[in-house]
Amino acid sequence: MKKKVLVTGATGFTGGYLTEELAKRGYEVRALSLANQNVDKLKELGVDVVIGDLTNKETLIPAVEDVEIVFHIAAIFREQNVPNQYFFDVNVGGTKNLLEASLAANVRRFVHCSTVGVQGEIKNPPAKESDPYDPGDVYQRSKVEGEKLALKFFKENAIEGVVFRPVGIYGPGDLRFLKIFRWVNSGKFRMIGKGDVLYHLTFVRDLVDGIILCGEKNEAIGEIFTLGGNQYLKLSEFVKLLASILGVPEPKASIPVWPVWLGGLLCEIACYPFRINPPIYRRRVDFFIKDRAFDISKAKRLLGYNPKVDLVTGLKMTADWYRQENLL
Ligand SMILES: NC(=O)c1ccc[n+]([C@@H]2O[C@H](COP(=O)([O-])OP(=O)(O)OC[C@H]3O[C@@H](n4cnc5c(N)ncnc54)[C@H](OP(=O)(O)O)[C@@H]3O)[C@@H](O)[C@H]2O)c1
Repeated sequence: MKKKVLVTGATGFTGGYLTEELAKRGYEVRALSLANQNVDKLKELGVDVVIGDLTNKETLIPAVEDVEIVFHIAAIFREQNVPNQYFFDVNVGGTKNLLEASLAANVRRFVHCSTVGVQGEIKNPPAKESDPYDPGDVYQRSKVEGEKLALKFFKENAIEGVVFRPVGIYGPGDLRFLKIFRWVNSGKFRMIGKGDVLYHLTFVRDLVDGIILCGEKNEAIGEIFTLGGNQYLKLSEFVKLLASILGVPEPKASIPVWPVWLGGLLCEIACYPFRINPPIYRRRVDFFIKDRAFDISKAKRLLGYNPKVDLVTGLKMTADWYRQENLL
């Protein structure tokens, strides 16, 4: 009999790839989707779509019925124009609702998607899973609370629980990294600060392989895993690599950090009451000034996690997709 699984966030970037791969591997996949989303692609894959909202527990009951494994990928993440409380409503309250509904439905395993952002800036890179929490913004704080809640729930209840923390996720279909691709491609890129911080990415398909291992392997139960690519590098090296992949000259100019950070703060204050996206915000500046490099050896050792797509190949595939979609 096929294993029945639920994926939340299946209309999003990572959840979409995960859903497709699970269906390809013969799982019977159900997807939770907010109302009014385009679910045609999911339906084409033979996925059973249940309309629901993490903040409304009643709507989750049909989603978890007869499910063996829940992959909880959905989160509020990129949104800048929502009240801070909404991050907690979805990333903490929504996780609690889904955990409770899953337990009541006798779900065997719950795979919870966190983020390496729960560790914020890394003091002694590369960070291990056991290094302390140090969230730097409202999204990261909500992910810490969601992760802690899930870990406590796993300890106190008869459900197999796994937490994984992805590093920055990129690949065809992602629009978050499009900004830096465009900026470098335009020749107008300016490094904010020295560019000597470390940066770590994962190609989305490699991440999906890791997520599925979290759902399948007994060694995963009760553990936290950082899932990232094999390679991390200095931001300046990353930009140089990106420029060579895009076929443009390496950007050399830089600007100091503090005026941009202050500008970000002022933009956030000015835009927040009007619920509009600030043109610059501090989280964007953090990208240039915080070390983020992670040790992925635990996932390799316990799960057999083995990222296959090197950075050059992955960035080329992503650039090709942006060009194909006329985004670059
Ligand atoms: N992208 C990264 O670099 C990165 C790095 C580390 C960790 N993560 C984590 O990875 C996960 C996936 O990230 P992503 O980049 O793939 O995000 P994404 O594309 O923004 O997808 C998020 C998904 O969550 C769904 N969602 C939001 N609120 C919901 C609610 N109230 N009820 C049900 N579904 C809801 C969204 O639905 P709609 O499609 O309807 O909007 C969307 O499908 C998240 O947990 C994120 O925290 C991401």
